[in-house]
Amino acid sequence: MRHLLSTADLSRADALAVLDTAEEMAAVNEREVKKLPALRGRTVVNLFFEDSTRTRISFEAAAKRLSADVINFSAKGSSVSKGESLKDTVQTLEAIGADAIVMRHWSSGAARQLADSGWVGSAVVNAGDGTHEHPTQALLDAFTLRRHLAAETGASPTGTDLAGMHVVIVGDILHSRVARSNVWLLTTLGAEVTLAAPPTLLPVGVDAWPCRVTYSLDEALAAAPDAVMMLRVQAERMGGAFFPSAGEYTRSWGLTADRFARLSAQRGGRLAQPLVMHPGPMNRGLEICPAAADSPRNTALEQVANGVSVRMAVLHLVLNHDDPGRPSAAPAQP
Ligand code: CP
Repeated sequence: MRHLLSTADLSRADALAVLDTAEEMAAVNEREVKKLPALRGRTVVNLFFEDSTRTRISFEAAAKRLSADVINFSAKGSSVSKGESLKDTVQTLEAIGADAIVMRHWSSGAARQLADSGWVGSAVVNAGDGTHEHPTQALLDAFTLRRHLAAETGASPTGTDLAGMHVVIVGDILHSRVARSNVWLLTTLGAEVTLAAPPTLLPVGVDAWPCRVTYSLDEALAAAPDAVMMLRVQAERMGGAFFPSAGEYTRSWGLTADRFARLSAQRGGRLAQPLVMHPGPMNRGLEICPAAADSPRNTALEQVANGVSVRMAVLHLVLNHDDPGRPSAAPAQP
């Protein structure tokens, strides 16, 4: 894998290779000595034009656990504010030694533009581009689902896909790069996906996506999902016009205390009890009630922890794409 730009680029075999490598990385993370020398002498630049807590910090932790050097670049406070272009910015970072550029950008398509431009020879990892894609979020979501499925069936997660699982993705699909990346990846891995959203928060062309679409969250919850993925309402992308209103949104599309109680009392299709997922950050009281946010069935923090293993796998695969080898076979650092 030369770059990671979109989950739509991943075949089932590619996706399983990332998830299986992430399982090896998780085994390293569970050891007392968590470092591998796999990326010693390599430099990873986290180039963030939009704010982030989870993605930026977990890429930093992932790179450090593989012994890479890490440079964190935030557009705020940089020469971007003086008008420096993306081309000049990335060429400057490569001159400083970047081998991989992990980029979050407000513009949909920015990561692919960088990878295709020829401006730099670095590997490019998309850490979220506008409202388009967030591939490592979808990979860590799939990793989390696969681990729960394996734990319940007693099977090894390695080598298995998500066939027979049903995931409902709820809310602000229009602005969600998490939803897009998950629809492509989960269906590639054999899961069934339903989108539940108000009509005003669905993108044009959603009918052509490989999933069901409903305006009724209650109808979607009644169909025995294995996981309900609540999306953050992205008010900052709505230009001050939030349709429907916050109250109406919560009543119709929020995981309220009532809906959460009903969900908790039912079985999933393959899991004994449905999971609640959230990419974070959560708008408590808007898309998710405090009882669901703080429930042990909510995997939000587990997703964050799994994100380090998944990002270790991605960095390992893009930086060793000509010879990925087995990362866990490398001796541990003292
Ligand atoms: N899920 C996610 O992308 O969170 P951050 O914006 O905090 O990175």
